Amino acid sequence: MSEGLLNSESGLLTHKLNPGSPVRKKILIVDDVEKNLRLLEAMLYPMGHDIMFAKNGKEAIEKVHSNPPDLVLLDIMMPVMNGYEVAEKLKNGDTTRMIPIVMVTALNEVEDRVKALEAGADDFLTKPVEEVELKARITSLLKVKAYNDYMKDYQRILEEEVGRKTLELRRAMDGLKNASLETILRLARASEYRDDDTGDHIKRVSYCSEVIARNMGMSQSFVDAIRYASPMHDVGKIGIPDNILLKPGKLDPEEWEIMKTHTTIGKEILSNSEFEFVKLAEEIAYTHHEKWNGSGYPRGLKGSEIPLSGCITAIIDVFDALLSERPYKKPFPLEKALSIIEEGNGSHFDPDVVSAFMTSLDEIMKIRQLHP
Ligand SMILES: [Fe+2]
Repeated sequence: MSEGLLNSESGLLTHKLNPGSPVRKKILIVDDVEKNLRLLEAMLYPMGHDIMFAKNGKEAIEKVHSNPPDLVLLDIMMPVMNGYEVAEKLKNGDTTRMIPIVMVTALNEVEDRVKALEAGADDFLTKPVEEVELKARITSLLKVKAYNDYMKDYQRILEEEVGRKTLELRRAMDGLKNASLETILRLARASEYRDDDTGDHIKRVSYCSEVIARNMGMSQSFVDAIRYASPMHDVGKIGIPDNILLKPGKLDPEEWEIMKTHTTIGKEILSNSEFEFVKLAEEIAYTHHEKWNGSGYPRGLKGSEIPLSGCITAIIDVFDALLSERPYKKPFPLEKALSIIEEGNGSHFDPDVVSAFMTSLDEIMKIRQLHP
């Protein structure tokens, strides 16, 4: 049935099924009197449906579960389990409640009929059963059942289709995100190419900043944003002349002032964006050389005046520089790098960020191994 619902070319759901089409259905007749079973069978046989029988309520329940019918003709007065109990059980079962039940009874009092309806019967017929009436009721209820089956199937296919499309969309979004991150890393690498031609420094800054932000309990949107934004922290170096940026020796005071402008140049390059992660990148470019005690640059911000994004990027940037080789220095051993970070706790670095950094050290070292 489900195959007819999905148009494979368009991927859209189409109404190929006709829920009211006359197809062979299964009818369960429940009666403890053999003669009654045969009588109903004789009336239903010409309709072309498959007929099943049960001689009491218990047997009826078993048959409904082992081979679900499309309709039950149910006698009321039976041994073992009467018709009311059977109807109630079927209408309370998740898989059986949609099967129409027609009570067939010799009882003709209004209260018996009310009781049958209360037990969950969808309709009732009075013995002796009129053939025309029986066929009319059955045809009508089978149509309702077929329509319900159709709707149930349609809904299931629709849910599967929505689930599949959502997954596709999520994959496409992930692909776009990854493409964005790669583009950012490559552009950031272009800006740092002159003094870091491998590009691994910016990858380490990106992934390690993400780890610290996550371990500080920041929101997922902030964690994502800092992963994208932190690689751009030194994008302003593009505006620093070679003779200063690549100078192997110490910078003189005038050169140092020019070097410091990579923060404000970066801010300018990244300013006025409508995207959150670019706004965060602007903030990081501007503040990643500020120090907790106010002795940093370009503005000499102090303590909580420095945005967290800048504090996180600062510690990762410095730690990475300490462990890396430079024209003027060999890489420091890990112990020394860590002691320098500790010394900077509360002076250079935000104490909360130092604490998160120490907690995240294993993860950070793994990232360093992956991007040496
Ligand atoms: Fe920098």
